[in-house]
Amino acid sequence: MRAAVRYLVLLFGSLALVAWGASALFNLQAMEWAQRDVAARARLAASAADPSLRQAAGRGERQLLNNMVRDERLMGAAICSPSGRSEIASDGFPASLGCRSLPEEALRVGEEGWDRTIAGPSGATHLTVLPISHEVSQPPRMLLLVHDMSYVDRRADTTRRYTFLAFAVVGLLGAAAASVVARLSWLSWTAQLRMVLLAPFKAARVVIPRRFQPLLSDVRDLVSTLAVEEARTESGWTPERLKQVLQRQLGGEGILVVANREPYIHERDGAGGLRVVHPASGLVTALEPVMRACSGTWIAHGSGDADFEVVDGHDHVRVPPERPIYDLRRLRLTPEEEQGYYYGFSNEGLWPLCHIADARPSFRSTDWERYQQVNRRFADAVAEEAAVPDPIVLVQDYHFAMLPRYLRERLPRATILTFWHIPWPHAERLVVCPWARELLGGLLGSSIVGFHTQAHCNNFMEAADRLLESRLDRERQSVIQAGRETLVRPYPISIDWPSRWADATAPAEQCRAEVRRELGLPADALLGVGVDRLDYTKGIEERLLAVERLLERQPRLHGRFWFAQIAAPSRAVIEAYRSLAERVEALADRINARFGREGWRPIILARRHHEPPAIFRMYRAADLCYVSSLDDGMNLVAKEFVAARDDLHGVLVLSQFTGAARELTEALVVNPYDLDAAAAALLAALDMPLEEQEDRMRSMRTLVSELNVYRWAGKMLLDATRTRRKERLASRLSPVAEPR
Ligand code: F6P
Repeated sequence: MRAAVRYLVLLFGSLALVAWGASALFNLQAMEWAQRDVAARARLAASAADPSLRQAAGRGERQLLNNMVRDERLMGAAICSPSGRSEIASDGFPASLGCRSLPEEALRVGEEGWDRTIAGPSGATHLTVLPISHEVSQPPRMLLLVHDMSYVDRRADTTRRYTFLAFAVVGLLGAAAASVVARLSWLSWTAQLRMVLLAPFKAARVVIPRRFQPLLSDVRDLVSTLAVEEARTESGWTPERLKQVLQRQLGGEGILVVANREPYIHERDGAGGLRVVHPASGLVTALEPVMRACSGTWIAHGSGDADFEVVDGHDHVRVPPERPIYDLRRLRLTPEEEQGYYYGFSNEGLWPLCHIADARPSFRSTDWERYQQVNRRFADAVAEEAAVPDPIVLVQDYHFAMLPRYLRERLPRATILTFWHIPWPHAERLVVCPWARELLGGLLGSSIVGFHTQAHCNNFMEAADRLLESRLDRERQSVIQAGRETLVRPYPISIDWPSRWADATAPAEQCRAEVRRELGLPADALLGVGVDRLDYTKGIEERLLAVERLLERQPRLHGRFWFAQIAAPSRAVIEAYRSLAERVEALADRINARFGREGWRPIILARRHHEPPAIFRMYRAADLCYVSSLDDGMNLVAKEFVAARDDLHGVLVLSQFTGAARELTEALVVNPYDLDAAAAALLAALDMPLEEQEDRMRSMRTLVSELNVYRWAGKMLLDATRTRRKERLASRLSPVAEPR
């Protein structure tokens, strides 16, 4: 509105200025013409009357002069003597303009005469002085004619008025025409803009005019920023919300996930058929529901013995098998590659390096070679799967420290978010690895590196500072190396909520009764449970020793309390894992031998893979769950136990050395090395009144339900999309994703 008023003021102002200029010019011209006209008329009248004038002057007769001034524009005529005296004048000659008023030059003028226009009180007046014929021996008398020029002023006024009127009419017509044109083009512009902005929601692909690209990109930027802010502040992440946010941010573009472990393993079942196994892996537990929500491609090592029987020509298989949503791309590794990259460098080198669990890392150059080789192969696979030049790639875990750098070489504009699922050690510990600098440099190929906790982020930044030629930006929490910035962020991982496995499991009472029956326990048996991969970082030995200490101290539990340890075989090729399995077996046997009696063997050790439904039944059947990790990035067993207990019963005893202990503060948090304290916590769990159990469980369930895995993925992906947007702006890349 204001702009329109400003436009009209400007339009009419300029028109008035032009009108004024035009009329001034015209009036000047008109005055010039009028002066020429009266001068000519004066000369004509004078020459016609000249002989008579001479006589009239001699005789002092004014009649002749009166006759001359009959011309309506002549106001008066007078004859001036050579000395400038008025000899005779017509009737009514204006007294102020008499011969005395003439300048000297006018009285001495020759045949050409003298003319002057002067401004009078009632308008302009023109004076003409002409010599009257005379004796050569005498100086001439002068005829003075006074012309009324006020009509020129009147005409000028009229002209000015009409000019202004004409320009006003033109202005009004112009403004009307401009507003009609503006209205029409506004309508068409807004129609085009609507089409451009709604394009992502239309099924058909819309061609976006070039001139809208910058605007569109700004609008998208704004919308995304608002969405990011909205997403950041709100709780209540669900698969649907993650899907919506990603649809807005990525416009349907799938994400690429690289993880060594695949979410579904196809194996032969021994009876000529195939079965699908869900691996025991925190990473899979967390990431699989995210992929269901986001879709895209998961690139992993095809480790099942029937994996390549079900893939297509590009080693792809659609999963989940029961309702395919995303692609699983399987990579074949040779036995040498698997040995060097997975068992060797990843699990005999990096795993013990990063966990404080008294295991010595082994670093062999042959393993390091294989590790780099396999990381390169995965980087090639990602580049093959990428549908755009700047895809979002989520790199998972310690198997792929070098991949970000290799991938950056292949796809310089990719947004690479690497999440390290295990702890990151202090720099003093890290330098034990002969290739610590290379590992850091490899990870700094990422746009963002994520850890579970701020403490691990700090360790990583300190290590980069101490071992590399790099600069830290502590305010932005980033490492800058060779002009490239890598953000370092904490993203505490979690599980899906509501848990699909919990939803598919029978109610707690039923699980409780069934599990006791299956294990041959009395209906009122007290049952503790532990669920892990058979890994020395999980503190399984310390857990069983704590149970032993409990039984030592509490004879009243003899014959009443059982502890079931589910131990999924893991990395059994590695000696440290084989010997752990043997030690755990021996320990369970020893405790059972020490305390056991007819009908009661307190330790139930199940050393085999359990599918998630069986594990959720155990969680629901138990009175307590003990997670005793000696060092653990997060530990999702703790969160799964909480998710399973919708009856609000059961107590979580949790090691202080897990990331989960920072969130689940209503658990009984213990130092697993302190067997007395751990035994006391187990006892407190068994004796805890139901009301207190409910209070604690309710609070933990609220927390896990909010800090669920969709929030974890959402926060990471929003950071990744934001980083990509910035990089796209910087490189002026079109924000419209190219179709697959
Ligand atoms: O803890 C790191 C991790 O990758 C977990 O995410 C997962 O639970 C485990 O290791 C899987 O180990 P693997 O794939 O070697 O069986």
